[in-house]
Amino acid sequence: MTPVAQHDRKTQASIRRVQAQLRERSEREQQRAKRRTFHEANRLRRLPLYLFSILDELKAQAKAQGKDVIDLGMGNPDLPPPRHVVADLIKRVAEPANYRYSRKGGEVERKLNEAIAAWYQRKFGVRLDQATEVLPLLGSKEGIAHLSLAFLNHDDIALVPNPTYPVHFNGIILAGGILYSIPISAEHHYLPNLRAVNREVLKMAKMVFLSYPHNPTTAVADLKFFKDVVDWAATYRIMVVHDFAYSDFVFDGHRAPSILEVKGAKEVAVEFHTLSKSYSMPGLRLGFAVGNADILASLAKTKGYVDFGIFPAAQWAAIKALSGPQDSVRKAVATYKRRRDVFLSGLHDIGWDVPQPKGTFYVWSKIPRKFSALTSLEFATLLMQDAGVVVAPGSGFGEYGEGFVRFALVEPESRLREAARRIERVLQMGD
Ligand SMILES: Cc1ncc(COP(=O)(O)O)c(C=O)c1O
Repeated sequence: MTPVAQHDRKTQASIRRVQAQLRERSEREQQRAKRRTFHEANRLRRLPLYLFSILDELKAQAKAQGKDVIDLGMGNPDLPPPRHVVADLIKRVAEPANYRYSRKGGEVERKLNEAIAAWYQRKFGVRLDQATEVLPLLGSKEGIAHLSLAFLNHDDIALVPNPTYPVHFNGIILAGGILYSIPISAEHHYLPNLRAVNREVLKMAKMVFLSYPHNPTTAVADLKFFKDVVDWAATYRIMVVHDFAYSDFVFDGHRAPSILEVKGAKEVAVEFHTLSKSYSMPGLRLGFAVGNADILASLAKTKGYVDFGIFPAAQWAAIKALSGPQDSVRKAVATYKRRRDVFLSGLHDIGWDVPQPKGTFYVWSKIPRKFSALTSLEFATLLMQDAGVVVAPGSGFGEYGEGFVRFALVEPESRLREAARRIERVLQMGD
């Protein structure tokens, strides 16, 4: 039980209410699980609680009560996709040929691989073999989860910085591999010290997951960091998986390098990309992996058993997005930067001193001292219920995220200002 005695009565009552609700919910879940006729596989039961589903429930309750909810919970882009891409998609959707199964080597499939390789060369100066070093995906999350399934045996370790985007560790658990967390912290710019990992662990380690610009901490990494990673990975023969979902989202003069810019990286690394963030098309499910051809062949083999590829009309849309004008990407990045500045100044004005993000479209902060006795889920529930603001509890990103919350800047500036004002009411409770 979280101590609440240091708070005034009204705050104590709110905290107790939130804690009781979360306790009741978890008891209800346990009872429901016991009553089931068909029990889930142990690998599913080993997965940590998916905190977004709790917040979704609470949000639905609040909305049903007619409350206005500002949703900064999930990193679900609210900006429109590029207009020329939508125009093309409308045309492609009307073509019957686009309703057949997608097949390797077909026209759109070949053109998409070419478009990805050309985009990569333009953006990072890295040449890719479009036939073997490019693999389109049903979103990068799908590919990342399946990569663990493709490579991990029950006695293989996968190294994961913690906190991190949940599929990095959940994919390992689903695949039945051994998850080894490497704590990362602000003191070391949220970069893992791979050289400090125990030799015995390294003997069993098969892969490491990295992702910079980093969700949820907003940290960035430079080319020197990746050079060191590639060198380390080559020494210990460990596969490097770089999730590069936020490649465009860097501010204030930072540049986000691709790990494949490092000489020799293709020997050990694959990199995951998505059209969900830069092109604001998360619902279309478009991503791709690039890099080591053998690793990608095994990922393609795994996918061959479970999916039939991407809706061809969506593949044409991806080609348009990657090959056409990129001003919508620049505009999106500028919009998120303005939102960051507006929200940060709103939080600073109410006395919440949050660090300035260097990348991504999130804000990551410690829970204010006054509420530091609460878990991040309790604090997020309090913000949801008493301010109508949804945030992601840090513990949803791993145990080292406990004590933090993440705000996704996926609402317009006016709503972000309003969110800060509402949060102030919670922070001032009892002052
Ligand atoms: C770091 C990171 N990787 C991958 C994804 C998933 O992207 P996609 O829509 O391509 O599955 C996200 C989405 O939030 C993310 O933050």
